[in-house]
Amino acid sequence: MHFRVACLVVALAAAALTPSQITAQSSSQAVAQTPPMGWNSWNYFAGKVTDKDIRDSADQIVSSGMRDAGYIYVNIDDTWEGQRDASGVLHTNSKFPDMKALADYVHSKGLKLGIYSGPGPKTCAGFEGSYKHEEQDAKLYAEWGIDYLKYDLCSFIPDVMEKQAPNDKAEQMRIMVAAYDKMAKALKATGRPILFSLCQYGWDSPWEWAPALGGNAWRTTGDIQPRWQSIYDILSQQKGLASYAGPGHWNDPDMLEVGNGKLSLAENRTHFSMWAMLAAPLLAGNDLPHMKPEIHAILTNRDVIAINQDPLGHQAQYIYSKGEVEVWARDLKDGGKAIAVINVGSDTYSTHPFHLDLEQLGLHGTQHAKNLWTGKDMDLTNDMPIELASHDVLLVRIGSK
Ligand code: GLA
Repeated sequence: MHFRVACLVVALAAAALTPSQITAQSSSQAVAQTPPMGWNSWNYFAGKVTDKDIRDSADQIVSSGMRDAGYIYVNIDDTWEGQRDASGVLHTNSKFPDMKALADYVHSKGLKLGIYSGPGPKTCAGFEGSYKHEEQDAKLYAEWGIDYLKYDLCSFIPDVMEKQAPNDKAEQMRIMVAAYDKMAKALKATGRPILFSLCQYGWDSPWEWAPALGGNAWRTTGDIQPRWQSIYDILSQQKGLASYAGPGHWNDPDMLEVGNGKLSLAENRTHFSMWAMLAAPLLAGNDLPHMKPEIHAILTNRDVIAINQDPLGHQAQYIYSKGEVEVWARDLKDGGKAIAVINVGSDTYSTHPFHLDLEQLGLHGTQHAKNLWTGKDMDLTNDMPIELASHDVLLVRIGSK
């Protein structure tokens, strides 16, 4: 026997783990070492998404340079599901004629394919969920070549939690955690690295229990909308969550709305800047084949993406505000910092005379910085005036100490 193989056998025997358990353990550790990046069908296509939309989006991710900028996951959200056959095997509906072929296509582009389900009998859009078919579904995903699962609570609340434990919130929560744990184990047992993304809207502090069961990301809020107020509300709800995020497990303030609805250019820029600062999954949700150049420029800004993907994985913290201006900052692996100053006020015509307090950021003296939206170098000095239009952002990176 080869020496390394012999060592492996000894190690396996000592740890009393089977080879498939070893694979499962290492595969769960390998995904999401930095926040996942990609695209998801829901925010633009919702229930209309088809196999063709997924292929077109995959094509566009490659030809637009988004793949090379880091967008790897192409995620099908709700409404792909058909019926179960007599053996319980789930089939796709007519919008997705051949999921394996679709996965092969997406993989041939150097991308990964994500899918959607939930622990309840039905998904949020009323399609077939994974209740009582968890292992079977996980195996099916692995056979198809799925790389990412978004697992959405929805009907599990009325149909299982409230039925099994009426008026007992603590027991309902235990039932919910067990349901997520069950799917986490089913995914691990397949041996395929499948990123596990929990979607239960931030109820019952998922950041406290999702990492332990192998969750790679968990939604921290309800659904995002392509409106400033929704984006700002979600941002405000991320205060205090930074310590729960890190390599392999991330807070998820929901998918991007960049390029959707009537968001202004400043709002798109601020939304993207802040999701990068929050070490959030960067899942674009716009109509990629018809993306405007200025939206493409936002989504592919390499300096901003580098903040999101910084290997230290430190989510930004809210530092202070003055009037309608907020300051957020995060530490970076090279010893530097990213700082975001945002004008959350809605006065359209006035800029806000804001003076940056470096001391509150733990910085002393002039800081050499790069403005990540203009690409220009600048100096940050204590008490310097910063003028920002409504809902706009100054995003800078200061160098290593
Ligand atoms: C929920 C989720 C959304 C989306 C829809 C699909 O509302 O929070 O992100 O997945 O379900 O039905």
